[in-house]
Amino acid sequence: MNAVLENPRDPRPLDTLGRPLRDLRVSVIETCNYRCPYCMPTDFTLEETALDRARRLSFDEIETTVRAFVRVGVSKIRLTGGEPLLRKRLPDLIARLVAIPGVEDLALTTNGSLLAAQVLALKQAGLHRLTVSLDALDAGLFRALSGGRGDVSDVLAGITAAEDAGFSAIKFNCVVQRGVNESQVLPLVERFRGTRHVLRFIEYMDVGSCNGWRREAVVSSRELRDTISARWPLRPVSPSYRGEVATRHAFVDGAGEVGFISSVSEPFCGDCHRARLSADGQLFTCLFASRGQDLRSALSSGEDALAERIATLWQGREDRYSEQRNAPVPEAKPGKKIEMYFIGG
Ligand code: GTP
Ligand code: 5AD
Ligand code: SF4
Ligand code: SF4
Repeated sequence: MNAVLENPRDPRPLDTLGRPLRDLRVSVIETCNYRCPYCMPTDFTLEETALDRARRLSFDEIETTVRAFVRVGVSKIRLTGGEPLLRKRLPDLIARLVAIPGVEDLALTTNGSLLAAQVLALKQAGLHRLTVSLDALDAGLFRALSGGRGDVSDVLAGITAAEDAGFSAIKFNCVVQRGVNESQVLPLVERFRGTRHVLRFIEYMDVGSCNGWRREAVVSSRELRDTISARWPLRPVSPSYRGEVATRHAFVDGAGEVGFISSVSEPFCGDCHRARLSADGQLFTCLFASRGQDLRSALSSGEDALAERIATLWQGREDRYSEQRNAPVPEAKPGKKIEMYFIGG
């Protein structure tokens, strides 16, 4: 492998900005049972991007692909969708991925709607960690935010089932939009304070092209931190690992912590070690990419060829979209961007 090396005895490639590849987010399915307006609005024509089911990678293909990624440096895997629990026999895939030498962390991000029925099987298959999206506790607002399809009581039942199955430090992702769900911030904090779970607030991002994003709708992490701190004082905590996306803050009274993901106000591209694999086998080297790079043809030649292809693509990587978005003189904008549900956030 002809890679730019971080350390001459280390075979891991670096991208053009010196960043190694450490995390892989694997989308196992591109559809969802929700229609969150910021991700997959109801009036959006899915036909444009919907995959022919036959083009989804099989479990064999996903396993080989993950093995190849591990060879070029990946040790953390996150399964995403769309909604990953819609993919049939997901526990079988989980069991195969946790068994790969070098996979140290296997997590899953879900909307939680199908968790109650499936979470025990996920745990038994060996899933390490769980993240649940939760933008509101209020039942009416939750329903509206899921595009009229979700019932928050299903998600809450899923969370209880996850706790019963042995998932202890669950992460919760809440995207806050101005004028939409700011009212939910303190109730959500109150709900998870004093548990081992960690609630994280994500700044609303301009991912994709279908959600009509406006900067005015972003509620900054600073503003949220001030609001929460006024009620329950917070103090900053050091990151748990280099390149952690969320900045951590602990409650001064010892009731746990919250996190803030500030991709709009404080981009973290400099430490971005993440690659994304779409369900049809394309590599996306940025959440805001316009297009993916096909891995299927290399995959058909086997794990060695695929590892080389990934290393070569990673070495050519220049992405730093969130920094470019905030440049004083805006740098060239990409054309149409890939949609969130297609690469799983
Ligand atoms: P762990 O620390 O491993 O638990 O995961 P994480 O903090 O990376 O959390 P998660 O993968 O759940 O990411 C949370 C959200 O942060 C995602 O759903 C995205 O909305 C956002 N995010 C994650 N990675 C990136 C990234 O590389 N760029 C941007 N702009 N946003 C990201
Ligand atoms: N901005 C910020 N976060 C988003 N998510 C989906 N779309 C957006 C967006 N436009 C979040 C979901 C989920 C995670 C996968 O990404 O709420 O928690
Ligand atoms: Fe589905 Fe998640 Fe997108 Fe909502 S944000 S439509 S739950 S994939
Ligand atoms: Fe990484 Fe792209 Fe997000 Fe920057 S905008 S942190 S390069 S995924």
